[in-house]
Amino acid sequence: MTAESMDKLVALCKRRGFIFQSNEIYGGLQGLYDYGPLGVEFKNNLKRSWWNSMVYERDDIEGIDSSILANPLVLKHSGHEETFSDPLVDCRSCKSRIRADHIKGNKCPECGSEDLTEPRPFNLMFKTSVGPVDDGSSFAYLRPETAQQIFTNFKNVLDSTPHHLPFGIAQMGKAFRNEITPRNFIFRVREFEQMELEFFVRPGEDEKWHKTWTDLRVDWWEKQGISKDNLELLEVPKDDLAHYSKATVDIMYKYPHGLEELEGIANRTDFDLGSHSRNQSELNLTAKVNKNSDSNAKLAVQDPETKEWLVPYVIEPSAGVERGFLAILNEAYRVEGLEGGKERTVLSLKPHLSPIKAAVIPLKRNNEDLVKTAKNLKNVLQSQGLGRVLFENSGNIGKSYRRHDEIGTPICITIDFESLEDGTATIRDRDTMEQKRMDIDSISEYFKETIDN
Ligand code: GLY
Repeated sequence: MTAESMDKLVALCKRRGFIFQSNEIYGGLQGLYDYGPLGVEFKNNLKRSWWNSMVYERDDIEGIDSSILANPLVLKHSGHEETFSDPLVDCRSCKSRIRADHIKGNKCPECGSEDLTEPRPFNLMFKTSVGPVDDGSSFAYLRPETAQQIFTNFKNVLDSTPHHLPFGIAQMGKAFRNEITPRNFIFRVREFEQMELEFFVRPGEDEKWHKTWTDLRVDWWEKQGISKDNLELLEVPKDDLAHYSKATVDIMYKYPHGLEELEGIANRTDFDLGSHSRNQSELNLTAKVNKNSDSNAKLAVQDPETKEWLVPYVIEPSAGVERGFLAILNEAYRVEGLEGGKERTVLSLKPHLSPIKAAVIPLKRNNEDLVKTAKNLKNVLQSQGLGRVLFENSGNIGKSYRRHDEIGTPICITIDFESLEDGTATIRDRDTMEQKRMDIDSISEYFKETIDN
């Protein structure tokens, strides 16, 4: 079961502290969101899961964390200055600015007027001035993708690690696009986070790796709790491919607002490494090289045996953190009928993604012994390093259970008077609502098993 409605997700996110409108007290700023106490935990858990699967669970991928501000030459030679734009049309009647591909039947979608301008390109990159003088002569772009600094660091990483092809470089971080019409909550925003891998392979092996990475990425999304039934693979039509791509497969998810891209896996060939260096031609390569590049870096690898130089091809699985956040939240959301005509909302998140891993609740908030026992247990569980554990001194167990169901906390542990006598506590399971008593001493082990699964 899913939320099936964006409004329900937006309301839950605000009510429970996952996501707030950015700059809200001043009327907000379109296409920007802030992540609250639970949102930041959930986002970090999602990113950690990606990093684990990319960097820690493999031995052929390294991570980096590069600057957000980018030298304009990087985006010039990457092709973004020239091609990273949407054609825009202005309506002379209502003054709306609309993406040309959103116009149907030559009519303004806002007011229906046919008095429209010709389409004009509009670059999606944000610019900012650098240094003390703001005269336009010294500026940087806010990176529109994390990928470019992976390419510009290709040689640094290769020279400082023992890798040969195939190997990858992973990066997570902010990217910025001046979207004309941000919409659908956090789906299309102007400031967002990407989780990108550039996986470098021998030319000729690219198509095999493209398929491999597509399969791996679908498996990973399933492990984050997304049902295969709600995923579809889309072979991006040739006319819609990004300027650097030979072939792209989009993993599409059935969002509440429709089937849309969750992650794209592109075969970027040798386009990027070839574009960033004019030196490649000296290597007697077949790669397309950019003789006009302002960089002289040798972005190529030498075969350790044949000593042949080549410019690798690259396969790029590129996922949006916010799009993943929204898909997983939608997937985990359900409303269940209870006895007596009541309902409960549950977020059945995989435990590794839950913002709060466990809540420890004393039955009475003013009882020193209960509070002390609960705090001790919280500290023991917290020290396991599995994520945030809450000591929740609400004094209202029923209300705490409802809140933790709604925010996806896998287990709640109640310390009551029996606990003080026999050293046991009640453990309540979020999904089944089953309660059982357990020795406090064995809760650590149970907690670890629950969260690790
Ligand atoms: N790096 C691919 C993208 O940002 O769309």
